[in-house]
Amino acid sequence: MTPSQSIAWAAWALAAALAALAVVVAMAWQLRVAHGRLRRKRAILLSVLDSMEEGVVVTDGEGQIVMANRAAERLGGAVRAQDEMDRWYLPSCHFWRDACRPLSARECPLGQAARGEACDGAELLARGAPGVPDRWLNVRVRPLATASPGRLGGVVVFADVTARKRADEESRALQQLRRETEFRREAAREEERKHIARELHDELGQHLSALRMELSLMRMRWGPMDAEIADKARAMQGSVDQVIRVVRNLVASLRPAVLDMGIGSALEWLVAEVAASGQVRCQLELQEESVVLDANQTNLVFRLVQESLTNVVRHARAREVRVSLARHGEGYLLMVRDDGVGFDPTWRSPTSFGLLGMHERAEMLGGVLEIRSSPGEGTRIAVSFPAAHAAQPALAPSGWRAAGA
Ligand SMILES: Nc1ncnc2c1ncn2[C@@H]1O[C@H](COP(=O)(O)OP(=O)(O)O)[C@@H](O)[C@H]1O
Ligand SMILES: [Mg+2]
Repeated sequence: MTPSQSIAWAAWALAAALAALAVVVAMAWQLRVAHGRLRRKRAILLSVLDSMEEGVVVTDGEGQIVMANRAAERLGGAVRAQDEMDRWYLPSCHFWRDACRPLSARECPLGQAARGEACDGAELLARGAPGVPDRWLNVRVRPLATASPGRLGGVVVFADVTARKRADEESRALQQLRRETEFRREAAREEERKHIARELHDELGQHLSALRMELSLMRMRWGPMDAEIADKARAMQGSVDQVIRVVRNLVASLRPAVLDMGIGSALEWLVAEVAASGQVRCQLELQEESVVLDANQTNLVFRLVQESLTNVVRHARAREVRVSLARHGEGYLLMVRDDGVGFDPTWRSPTSFGLLGMHERAEMLGGVLEIRSSPGEGTRIAVSFPAAHAAQPALAPSGWRAAGA
């Protein structure tokens, strides 16, 4: 190779090396720009996630946390590693679906996310995270949109619902307390009615009978001697008889003795009373052998029907009313149907407490009361209630007998 050829070759090699260097530098620059863009995007993503109230944790297919926001750290769903700001791990906490059983690692939201599963609105109790009190979380799990087949992973989004959960529990406990108080009040009312009825019957009844007897003796003794005294005594006896009838009716309406003979007899008596008033035909459909109610249920059903029939007589202008009580699935269905003028059940009068009391009694039976009525259409009152109401406290006063016993 001549010297001039050597120089040309060296120049060509230098140019090629410079070109390669330029390409490498350009590529490095592009990489740097792309890296910078990626970091900016990640920073935007993190600041968006950090602005959220809900905790967000992103996991890879092995269940390792690859991203978490501040709410997740605050709620104890992720702990940021001390050394690396971009590394998180799951605190040693357990998730419980209820107060009895912790979830296995497989059932945990992070496990579900790692497998790319989805789950909506699970409410879990998280306990045991260091420095974080027990709390209820509403958890949503979604597979990662970018995860290619085989490489699973997912997002866990969770919100602290402890306050709502506690409020729900408190309102449930309050409702239960209210129901129990109502139950006690009803039992006390029933006992009071029984007491007054007994006093009226035993005390007043006895005095009235004695008075009637005295008047009768007076008439026998003085009547033959003085016609005026005889007339007066007869008139007074008539008045006393009337008072005795009023007292008897009062005793019966306060608490009919037939109530102790079971719901069948009690409803038959009630229906006969309404029919005897001559204002409306009254029919009872009841298969007594299939209806077994305890003393509390008997009283509540009786008072419900009593109030319904009183309303029919007072307001319905009906020709006929039908009362039925039958087994319905696991419980019973009580119905009072009339063919009267009907009314608008959504309208509430501030001075009417009858319907309100009926709703309360249906609730005490553990059931619901439904009124179907519209002006001109007649009225149907239906109460469905379970055979045995577990939430009922045992409140029947000791003197009460179970129906059918
Ligand atoms: N079976 C019925 N037919 C027609 N109207 C009724 C019937 N039951 C209730 N109502 C209407 O509903 C209102 C509220 O009833 P209620 O709460 O028992 O109070 P009250 O009987 O003291 O008026 C009644 O005033 C009446 O207008
Ligand atoms: Mg009424």
